[in-house]
Amino acid sequence: MYTLSVIAAASALLRVASATEVFAHFMVQNAYAYTVDQWKTDITSAQQVGIDGFSLNWIPPDCETGLDWMVDRIDDAFTAAESMGFSLIYSFDMSYSTCDVFWNQTFMQDMISKYAGNSAAYRWNSNMLVTTYGGDQVDEYGNEFFQGLKDNMQDSNPITLAPALTMYSMGAQTDPTGEASNLMSDYTSIDGYLNWQAWPLNVDSNITVTPDQAFQSALKSNGRSGPYIMAVSPWQYKDLNDGNPLDSWVAYSDTLFPDRFQALVSNDAIQPDIIELLTWNDFCESHYIRDLPNQDDTSATDYVELGDMGAYVWGQNHAPWRIIAKYYISWWKNGSPPAITMDQVVFWHRIHPKATVCSGGSSTGVRNYLYPEDAVFAWALVTESSTISMSIGSNQYWTFEADSSGPSMGMVPFPLYVSGSGDTPEVAIMRNGETLHSASSSQAVSTDCAWQNFNPVVGLVGPGMNSGTNSTS
Ligand SMILES: *[C@@H]1O[C@H](CO)[C@@H](O)[C@H](O)[C@H]1NC(C)=O
Ligand SMILES: *[C@@H]1O[C@H](CO)[C@@H](O)[C@H](O)[C@H]1NC(C)=O
Repeated sequence: MYTLSVIAAASALLRVASATEVFAHFMVQNAYAYTVDQWKTDITSAQQVGIDGFSLNWIPPDCETGLDWMVDRIDDAFTAAESMGFSLIYSFDMSYSTCDVFWNQTFMQDMISKYAGNSAAYRWNSNMLVTTYGGDQVDEYGNEFFQGLKDNMQDSNPITLAPALTMYSMGAQTDPTGEASNLMSDYTSIDGYLNWQAWPLNVDSNITVTPDQAFQSALKSNGRSGPYIMAVSPWQYKDLNDGNPLDSWVAYSDTLFPDRFQALVSNDAIQPDIIELLTWNDFCESHYIRDLPNQDDTSATDYVELGDMGAYVWGQNHAPWRIIAKYYISWWKNGSPPAITMDQVVFWHRIHPKATVCSGGSSTGVRNYLYPEDAVFAWALVTESSTISMSIGSNQYWTFEADSSGPSMGMVPFPLYVSGSGDTPEVAIMRNGETLHSASSSQAVSTDCAWQNFNPVVGLVGPGMNSGTNSTS
């Protein structure tokens, strides 16, 4: 009896220790210019945050002509990852409803098996883990397709399948248990699940972990052996600017990133097996945490052709958000918050008031555009009691208190009158009447705007990152 409970305790510990992987969703389409060294640079940057692997999102290479290169880039990714103790999984993008050639089981099987001997191929128990984006909304796929893929691989190289079936994830925002239960009965083939919906869905309210809990408990009670993967994302805004209001939206994301992480670390009722950050480099949906690519040098190995979408991405640095990710990832992995060793304030804001009509982009209506608050938001992590001061335009020296017990949050609203020349937010860390560090944003908030832009720019006050803000510390 005694022995048994010791073993049970030991295996419980082991379970906790083994189930703390963090992946970041990586758009292979943005890796056209990548070399093995560029992959290594990205991997180093991700590892500094505590990210263990990339989930490689790619569309069927023959879906459109000219995408064959993706197979080679993935090869380079495995070469780089293997040498750096980094993991990779596939996220087969099954959301494209028109393709010259759709995904087929033979090709997927070949691409998965190709790396069965590579140490970077992430395994869940002994199976290679496979994820998707979608698979439930396109006729060519669905439960039988997934079952076929798994059956084909069962003898040679069995896989664990944890797809992201977006209809179910969206439905779960209003009916968590119902959708989780539908997922289990409709998709008998799946072992685990990636709940893609990391943003409030067309509502002006904060997201909760109730859908996450519903999916995870449905997997468990149905005896599925795969991981529950919880998605965490800082933002959501996209504008295809095609005149269709359905193709242009923002999700209420003002304090989404710290809020969702906070829910994850402080709520015993949600313990996902894996976290997936959405995303590393999806620039078009404004949820990238990677450094911005080099915009001017077309020969840079991270060069990306952003086209129209560049209008809301270039200049909108998000890198300091990685400081928030790093803090909470460490907390989640270790079960306790990490020691605070630096004074840092991460702050972010959009660059025009929401009611402003800009000269480009979907000025006739970005869906949900009234949801975000016109404000500069800040997340402070300090080693000693400090006053954080925030200013923009006529709203000067709005303050909040922070101390070493953990992160604090504050904000300053945009002033009622914002001029065309713009107001640049300034944020300072003060202690004992002295200013320790201060920084102004790299972008002003202005009513003279070239694009209806709901993608924020992120800055940092204090040390810990050397790009993106004009620090005067
Ligand atoms: C399967 O997919 C691959 C990659 O897109 C393609 O080259 C091949 O022609 C497809 N096979 C069939 C039978 O459609
Ligand atoms: C979301 O939560 C934050 C607290 O982190 C709160 O300040 C804010 O008012 C909430 N937003 C809505 C729309 O309820």
